[in-house]
Amino acid sequence: MAKIKSIHARKILDSRANWTVEVEVNGVSGASPAGASTGTHEVPTVPADIACDFINNKMKKAFLNHEMNQKEIDRKLKFLTGKIGSNGAIATSFAVYNFLWDERQFNRSVFPYPLGNVFGGGAHGGSCYMQEVLLCPKKAKTFPDAVQKMTDAYHELKKELKDMGLSLGMNDEGALTANIGFMELMDILKPIADHNGCAIGLDIAASEMYRHNKYYYRQKEQFLNRDEQIDFVDHLIKKYNLFYVEDPMNEDDFDGFSKIHSKNKKTLVTGDDLTTTNTQRIQRALGKINAMIVKPNQIGTVTQAFDAISLCKKSHIIPVMSHRSGETTDATIARMALDFECPIIKCGIADMRTAKINELLRLWDKTDKPKMKKI
Ligand code: PGA
Ligand code: ZN
Repeated sequence: MAKIKSIHARKILDSRANWTVEVEVNGVSGASPAGASTGTHEVPTVPADIACDFINNKMKKAFLNHEMNQKEIDRKLKFLTGKIGSNGAIATSFAVYNFLWDERQFNRSVFPYPLGNVFGGGAHGGSCYMQEVLLCPKKAKTFPDAVQKMTDAYHELKKELKDMGLSLGMNDEGALTANIGFMELMDILKPIADHNGCAIGLDIAASEMYRHNKYYYRQKEQFLNRDEQIDFVDHLIKKYNLFYVEDPMNEDDFDGFSKIHSKNKKTLVTGDDLTTTNTQRIQRALGKINAMIVKPNQIGTVTQAFDAISLCKKSHIIPVMSHRSGETTDATIARMALDFECPIIKCGIADMRTAKINELLRLWDKTDKPKMKKI
């Protein structure tokens, strides 16, 4: 087995022009993304310089000549997150994963469906109270066709909003923004999604709008209590035939998720801030959700993310591999989604997020008899 011969950390910029950590292990790199609507239960980050300093001056000595074994290295990283943060840990863990990826004979051929943020707001910028309006090209038969359908819908929506005379922007996740009411936007998007073979999903990121036990809808200047929130989400699912709803309730309201799930069995009621890629929290969510976001940097290492995915698969919860709003061109999550057979990857549509999509397009092209995972 190969050994760690060199390890070096440096600061690089993420897509929001914030410093993040990049680590090179034996010349192969991994970089940490960063969230803006982070869950309270995520493993904390530390400032990039502190993480880099610790990795280069303290951690390195203990890691040199260590066998390139993902589980063993991740076990050590897990105990160092107090010093190097989830950001230093995941950058190192990604680098090791990418080194091993280059070494092994890759034989995975079942590809995830992309889930792309087409219109946004909330913590990622834009006037809309809804954080993410998502498209999933469920009717596609191949990964390239899925990308075609999703981007066709994106361009069509963009044109339609432009033709209405709206001035358009792009937020932190490369999603479109415009000064339009959420329901009006949904009414415009629904036929576009339908004729491009896409289903619609939402990331409500409800913890971001939760104040004094109520949900604050800033475009409407309206507060909803818990029951009203459940009814509103239920109404949206039915009206727009939503196939996916992420974080519809506050991050500690497991029973609220359960209420929405029990009324809407065909919709993927998905935990993100609820579960934070943490197996203990997934245990609490069993039977209450049927899908879960996997953000490796929420928990700190590839192995722990994989443990979360394994638990999901045993528990009939669909793992959805996901980017963060602050990204780099690191495409490790695209490899992991394929490697761990996640049925869905949420990684945006436009801007530098195409790094993940492009990695999957390359892998599709290089794979003998690739096929899509059934969803
Ligand atoms: P992030 O959130 O800004 O914390 O990456 C994205 C999401 O809620 O899915
Ligand atoms: Zn989310």
